[in-house]
Amino acid sequence: MDRFRDYDFLVIGSGIAGLVFALQVSRLGRVAVVTKRSLNDCNTDYAQGGIAAVLDHQDSFEQHLNDTWLAGAELGKKVVIERVIKDGPKLIQYLIDLGTDFTRVVENYDKSLENLSLTREGGHSHRRVAYAADSTGHQIMEALIENCYQNEGIDIFENHIAVDLITQHHIHQDDGFIPGISCWGAYVMDTKTNQVEVFRAKKTMMATGGASQIYAHNTNPDVATGDGMAMARLAGARLANMEFVQFHPTSFWSPDGETFLISEAVRGEGAVLRLQDGSTFMENYHEMGNLAPRDIVSRAIDAELKKRGEKYCLLDATGIDHVKLKKHFPYIDSRLREQGIDFTKDPIPVAPAAHYFCGGVLSTIDGLTDIRNLYCAGEVACTGLHGANRLASNSLLEALVVAWHAGNHPSNSDPVDFPPIPPWQQPECFYENEWVIISHNREIIGTIMQGYVGIRRSRRLLKYALSRIENIYNEINNFYQHNAVRKEVIETRNMAVIAIAVIRSALLRKESRGAHFLIDVPHRDDAKYKLDTII
Ligand code: SIN
Repeated sequence: MDRFRDYDFLVIGSGIAGLVFALQVSRLGRVAVVTKRSLNDCNTDYAQGGIAAVLDHQDSFEQHLNDTWLAGAELGKKVVIERVIKDGPKLIQYLIDLGTDFTRVVENYDKSLENLSLTREGGHSHRRVAYAADSTGHQIMEALIENCYQNEGIDIFENHIAVDLITQHHIHQDDGFIPGISCWGAYVMDTKTNQVEVFRAKKTMMATGGASQIYAHNTNPDVATGDGMAMARLAGARLANMEFVQFHPTSFWSPDGETFLISEAVRGEGAVLRLQDGSTFMENYHEMGNLAPRDIVSRAIDAELKKRGEKYCLLDATGIDHVKLKKHFPYIDSRLREQGIDFTKDPIPVAPAAHYFCGGVLSTIDGLTDIRNLYCAGEVACTGLHGANRLASNSLLEALVVAWHAGNHPSNSDPVDFPPIPPWQQPECFYENEWVIISHNREIIGTIMQGYVGIRRSRRLLKYALSRIENIYNEINNFYQHNAVRKEVIETRNMAVIAIAVIRSALLRKESRGAHFLIDVPHRDDAKYKLDTII
C-alpha cells in the first residue's frame, strides 16, 4: 500500500543540525524528522571534544577567525567565518537554555556563559572549547531529543532512510516545464518493512552528516555513508571541496581493528605524541608541536609510521594530573580499560583515521542550496567555514549556527505549489543471489579509498582508484535499478557516488593544501588553486 505523508517541514537526519532546525520551524508548521536508525545514531552523539566559541574575556572573535582561517589553509570564506563565530556565544547559551549541561569551573546551577570550563585543541591559540566531560555531543543530543519529544509539532520516524529527493526528475511535466530544480520532500523507506513512502514537504532540511564510512579506518558511526551529499548531487546540486577529507590524528589502534576516538582535548590538556621508541617528533613539524592543526599532525604521524614500517604511535597522557585526566575523560578511560590500558600509567596506541568531510553540498550560511526549498546544514554542507581543513570543534558550532539560521529564514512561511507527486516506482523482484554485489563492494570501496585516496595521495593512484570505483558504481547502480530497494543498496550506492566525488575533486586540485596532500606536488599554488573545487 502506498503511503503519502504531508508535512510543512521534512528533516532528514537527527544530529544537532537536524534537531535544532526541527525545533525552530516547529513554531511555523508540522515537522517530520526521519532518521536511519535511532535518534542518537549520528556523528553528533560521538563528538567528544566540544564546541568552540569565544567565551573568555581574553579571547576575541578576531583570534578565533584567524585560527579558523589558518587551519583551513587560507581557503575559508572570511565573511562566513566571521558570521559563524560571532553567533557562537549566543547559540551556546541557546543549548544551555535547552538543558545542555556543560562542564563548569565550579559545579553549580549557573545557566550563564560565565564559569564554563574551557579546553583547548589543535590549531587554537586560546582555550575556547566548551565541553561536557568527553561526551559533549551526547549531552547536547540528550537535551535536543528531550525537547523534540516534548514538542507536539514534531513527528519522529526512526528506522527510516531517505531514498531520493522528490524533484522534477520524478514529476511528469505534461502541464509545462518547471524551471530550475525544486524539492518537494523525499521518498523515504521504512527499513523494518522495506516500504517506500512519499513524505511531501514545503521545505526539506538535509542534515545527514558526513561520509567517512567510505574509508576502511574511520572514527564515524556506521550510518555516515554520505547519503545526503549523494542525494543532493544526484538531484543536481553542486558539491564543493570534496577532496578535503580530514583524518583525525588519534584514533585508538589495536591489532584486532577495535577503534574509537581519543579526543584532541587530551593533547589540549598536555598529552604528548611519541614514537614506539619513546621519542617525540611533532616539534620537527610545526611550531605548535602536538597542538598543530589536525592535517599537519595526521600527516606527520603518517610520515613517521611509513618511514619505520610501523602501524601506530603512542599518545602519552601520563604527565597530566591523574585526577584531572580521569574526571575530564571518563568515557575514554572506560573504553581504554576495556582494552586493558590505564592511561594514567600506559601510553595509548593511536593512528590517524578518516574523521570529517570539510566539503559537501554547496550551501550558504542560511543553509540555502542550488535546489529550491532544500536546505543543508552540518557536515553534509560546505558553507565556506572550514576551507581546506577544519579547526577542531568548529563542526558542532557550524551545524548549530547554520541550522538555526535556516530555521529562522524568512522564506519558511512562503506558500509552495506542489505538482502531483507519483508513488515510488520500483521493480517487484529481488535477486538475492546477486547480493554479493552490495556486500562485497561496500568493503572494497573502503579498502580502495584507504589505500589509494588517503592522507598522502598521488595522481597515479587517484586515477587507478577512479576507474575501479566507477566500475563498482556501475555494478551497484545496475543492481539498484533492477531490484526492489533495500537500505544496504541505497547506502552502498551513495558511498560510491561520494567516493567518486572525492577522487574527481582530488584530481582537479593539482597542489597540496590542508587535508589534500599530493606527493607529486607537495606545495601550495595560490596563484592557480586558491579557490573552491566545484563539481
Ligand atoms: C575530538 O574530540 O578530538 C574531536 C573533535 C572534533 O572533531 O572537532
